[in-house]
Amino acid sequence: MEYQELLKEAFAAMDNAYAPYSNYHVGACVLCTDGVTFKGANIENASYGATNCAERTAVFSAYANGYRKEDIAAIAIVSDGKRIGTPCGICRQVLSELLLPSTPVILSNGKDKMITNITELLPYSFGQEDLR
Ligand code: THU
Repeated sequence: MEYQELLKEAFAAMDNAYAPYSNYHVGACVLCTDGVTFKGANIENASYGATNCAERTAVFSAYANGYRKEDIAAIAIVSDGKRIGTPCGICRQVLSELLLPSTPVILSNGKDKMITNITELLPYSFGQEDLR
């Protein structure tokens, strides 16, 4: 699947965002190496801290269906913001454990696009190795 198509899937996922508080809509789509995709959207809550971000929803869904970091080819994350929305700190921490260091992370707001990876987004990360 081309990145352009993956971005389209992420924008389709964004339509399912539940964001009555921020009105900021985010969609994500994980592409697995076998071609299977998992969509996610941000799901807010009146108790704001209970909100789940789009990229976590998508990656958790992939993991919940048995896929692991080696099986993930790319993730697209999109928003309807004025500028490209980069993952929040909590999502960076989650992605640093659940993606391979150089898995492409494709970001877009429909106007601009950038391709990065979790190592660039979260250098000097804390992880599993630190607990051994
Ligand atoms: N949000 C995401 O879904 N992903 C991010 O990486 C940034 C923030 C959501 C959470 C909340 O529903 C809204 O955007 C505003 O913070």
